[in-house]
Amino acid sequence: MANLHIRKPLDKLMVEADDSEKGLKRTLGAGNLIALGIGAIIGAGLFVRTASAAANNAGPSVTIGFIIAAIGCAFAGLCYAEFASMIPIAGSAYTYSYATMGELVAWIIGWDLVLEYALGAATVGIAWSEYLNKLLEYFGMHIPYEWCHSPFEKITDAAGVVTGHGMMNIPALFIIALLSFLLIRGTKESAWVNGIIVITKVAIVILFILFGWSYMNPINHTPYIPEATTYIDTQGIGHNYGGIMGILGAAGVVFFAFIGFDAVSTAAQEAKNPKRDMPIGILGSLVICTILYILFAHVLTGVASVDDFRHQGREASVTFAINTYMLKYGWLAKLVTVAILAGFSSVILVMLMGQSRVFYSMSVDGLVPKVFSDLHPKYRTPYKSNLFFLGFVGLFAAFVPGDIVGDMTSIGTLFAFILVCAGVWIMRVRHPEVPRQFKTPLVPLIPILGIIVCGAMIFGLGWPNWARLGVWMVIGLIIYFAYGIKNSKLNNPDKDKK
Ligand code: ALA
Repeated sequence: MANLHIRKPLDKLMVEADDSEKGLKRTLGAGNLIALGIGAIIGAGLFVRTASAAANNAGPSVTIGFIIAAIGCAFAGLCYAEFASMIPIAGSAYTYSYATMGELVAWIIGWDLVLEYALGAATVGIAWSEYLNKLLEYFGMHIPYEWCHSPFEKITDAAGVVTGHGMMNIPALFIIALLSFLLIRGTKESAWVNGIIVITKVAIVILFILFGWSYMNPINHTPYIPEATTYIDTQGIGHNYGGIMGILGAAGVVFFAFIGFDAVSTAAQEAKNPKRDMPIGILGSLVICTILYILFAHVLTGVASVDDFRHQGREASVTFAINTYMLKYGWLAKLVTVAILAGFSSVILVMLMGQSRVFYSMSVDGLVPKVFSDLHPKYRTPYKSNLFFLGFVGLFAAFVPGDIVGDMTSIGTLFAFILVCAGVWIMRVRHPEVPRQFKTPLVPLIPILGIIVCGAMIFGLGWPNWARLGVWMVIGLIIYFAYGIKNSKLNNPDKDKK
């Protein structure tokens, strides 16, 4: 009889980690970890989803949404840090949960992480396509609407008459394919490139805040929290706009902007002093990003109006706001566009790599087929997995609107965070004896607050997203019971001995 709760013994994990991670040196200090976090964090969430959340959910009070999302991330981040210090190998929530909460929960988290990584990559790919179009405009070119939008999107004129439909988002597919091939070649972003990208990203955010500050129009910030209504967007989709529900919805949408800080926890093995530096790295990158995000969102919603973000400024909103209202700063708009394209590429690379790493581990454990851990004879990368996810992510990038994949990424990640919060609490009760280099303070209060705040954001994302998460999880459970449980190495130790 298969055991759903079978746990991967910690010592076995450590041996595997030693085998596969030989040579990892403890070289990263707190500063490096913060840079790593910021590199993975700032991306489409800030430069695309802020305007979308202001337009559809909360108007200027999207800033309050950022605060709520940051609080949820801080609680979950503290829990991540404990897991990361307890099982100090390069891993993810999947690895932690297999050792602590058993196979079924590990499967659920691993399956759920596909939403975070694969759909997250698709979302940023779609955002990349928006800014690419802006860049091309500077050269007098543009990609026709139908070839840079999904079939579910339509363009309307000022009177609301439909004048065109999307067919396929080719640039989004292109960037996913390009980066997948780079991954197959074994490209890893070097610390040096990451450093340059982090500096550029932070610089453009700060420049926009500084220069945009005096262009804020108080009318755009009045009322700061709009009255609660329903807003039907240009695509015919209804949203709770204004009031508390609007703010919670906005928090769920811009939560996307924080995804990636957990990347810091995967570097536990390379940290010089994980006990001190992991929490500093995780919380430090969160704090810096939160301050930048709130100021940025405040300025963006002050410079351009909600109406702009609903219509002409719906896409590539930052470039739009600068070009339309900050006329002296054409150079900044160009710089922002180029920096965003580079910054998005690095986020996509991190996400695609995260996805293949999680499926690699799941495949080694027998929970998904072996092809996901087959290595390329020359490049030693899981190339079949990369190709599979090129297809999977590419389909979403090419044929689904960015708002939908973005919200699915948010809800999937929020769900994983809730499981991690619960996991830390469960482990404290069941296994208080396991040494932990870093302990989440005030357990169970912090995990409970994490569950409540992340749960509130899930609530704010509304029923279509709950339904999508539900369907995804049901598909996952069917696959687990039809395949994973029968092929899991832990549950079927004899299968290995051929
Ligand atoms: N936080 C990352 C972004 O906003 C995923 O693009």
